[in-house]
Amino acid sequence: MTDADTLVPNHHAHYPGFSGFSGLLAALSMVRGRAEEADLAVEATHLTSTDRLVDVGCGPGSAARRAARRGAAVTGVDPAGVMLQVARVLDPARHVAWTRGGAEALPLPDGGATVVWSIASVHHWPDLEAGLAECRRVLEPGGRLFVAERHTQPGASGLASHGWTDLQTEAFTDACRAAGFEELQIASHRLRRRPLITVVGRRT
Ligand SMILES: C[S@@+](CC[C@H](N)C(=O)[O-])C[C@H]1O[C@@H](n2cnc3c(N)ncnc32)[C@H](O)[C@@H]1O
Repeated sequence: MTDADTLVPNHHAHYPGFSGFSGLLAALSMVRGRAEEADLAVEATHLTSTDRLVDVGCGPGSAARRAARRGAAVTGVDPAGVMLQVARVLDPARHVAWTRGGAEALPLPDGGATVVWSIASVHHWPDLEAGLAECRRVLEPGGRLFVAERHTQPGASGLASHGWTDLQTEAFTDACRAAGFEELQIASHRLRRRPLITVVGRRT
């Protein structure tokens, strides 16, 4: 991470590691061990079987499948074809609607969702403002937003930098406010001995 990145929440935009063979390896590495993030998201957004959830940057879909098992109607969106291929193999009965697209142009109707999640993905979005505008557009008024990222330290490098420092989290929260979200709350957690930071908010 360079000095210029210290305030930028999407400091890994255009990351090249989600396509081809490295993308497949990344997808496989994310298939297991995401249950706690999903449970945290369920709890933070009070997800029930009446909800319509969009998981933006769903990857191979562990959290989306877990939400579907709770009875919610779930759409998993990801721009990486290899992520969705793995997600579909793991969900042969199609409990989740796997959809190709990026946060900046979600291929979904206005106001169709009650909840949006994005787990370990926002730091990769090329256009944060456009992505948040899209999250707001697909949510109904009062809809809930949940974002989780690895809680990182300033100066971290490599995979350890894939997440947010406190300053980046605050910058993201400011961007959420500007995009039309309110009741924003930041919380720190420890999952599998790894620090995680979450932001929840509500669409105005
Ligand atoms: C570290 S993975 C996390 C995947 C999943 N949420 C999980 O926790 O297992 C980041 C994901 O963000 C996706 N991503 C990258 N750029 C994106 C964008 N512009 N909009 C939405 N998702 C994006 C990647 O394709 C990848 O699947």
